[in-house]
Amino acid sequence: MKDKLTPENIKKLKHGKRKIVAITAYDWATAALSEEASPEIVLVGDSLSMVALGYENTLPVTMDEMIHHTKAVVRAGLKSLIVADMPFMSCGVSVEDTVFNAGKFIKKAGAGAVKIEWRKNIVSTVRELVGHGIPVMGHIGLTPQDILVMGGYKVQGKTPEKVEKLLDNAKELEDAGVFSIVVECVPTSVGKKITESVNVPTIGIGAGPYCDGQIMVFSDIAGLYDKKKPKFVKVYAEAGKLIRNALASYAREVREGKFPDEEHSY
Ligand code: KIV
Repeated sequence: MKDKLTPENIKKLKHGKRKIVAITAYDWATAALSEEASPEIVLVGDSLSMVALGYENTLPVTMDEMIHHTKAVVRAGLKSLIVADMPFMSCGVSVEDTVFNAGKFIKKAGAGAVKIEWRKNIVSTVRELVGHGIPVMGHIGLTPQDILVMGGYKVQGKTPEKVEKLLDNAKELEDAGVFSIVVECVPTSVGKKITESVNVPTIGIGAGPYCDGQIMVFSDIAGLYDKKKPKFVKVYAEAGKLIRNALASYAREVREGKFPDEEHSY
């Protein structure tokens, strides 16, 4: 097992020269593949709900499913800090339940920290978690667990009042003890303002180039799906096409009796 990065290591990168790299992973295979990029952070995101489990949004994924997948990611033995996303309704309903659920990610699954999406009254819960020795990453801007009340995946922080609110959210999370903050889907100028307003690293996704780091969903980077993508997604490889072609070639050769040939037989 390599020397693991800690939330304190991540915090110190705020004032460094290099940007922080974060990638999501959902199982042993995606985590092992991500090692090539040496990401500082690997997030077992609740996007797992859609990209690995086939649900329509992030709301259905359960604590048990998140724990199961976090354990698989941890088994890849990465140096990266493994952060587990607290799924919808697992946090913020009661402080006791939140501490208990977050504790499971650390104790049972082996994660190094948890991520929590911003919601009203979350600050005291974050403080409680940190007080119990559980490192927390905040998440502001577009918070997909609020999809039903937000009425869709929309760019946030588009009026001066809303920008002020986001700045307040970031400051409150910092004061409560988070070690970093994901900033999702806000204009570049807002991502910059938030980054300059806090002393913990901001990790942007659709928040422009001025954040201290960036995160992207594994399946988006690798082009695994054909679904409509948000503007902030950059596909770095068409791995989905490659895999589909490989599977089709295999099936064709089996049907035509070309596989297995002599080379692949005993
Ligand atoms: O669930 C997830 O993958 C996330 C990232 C996109 C930040 O929350």
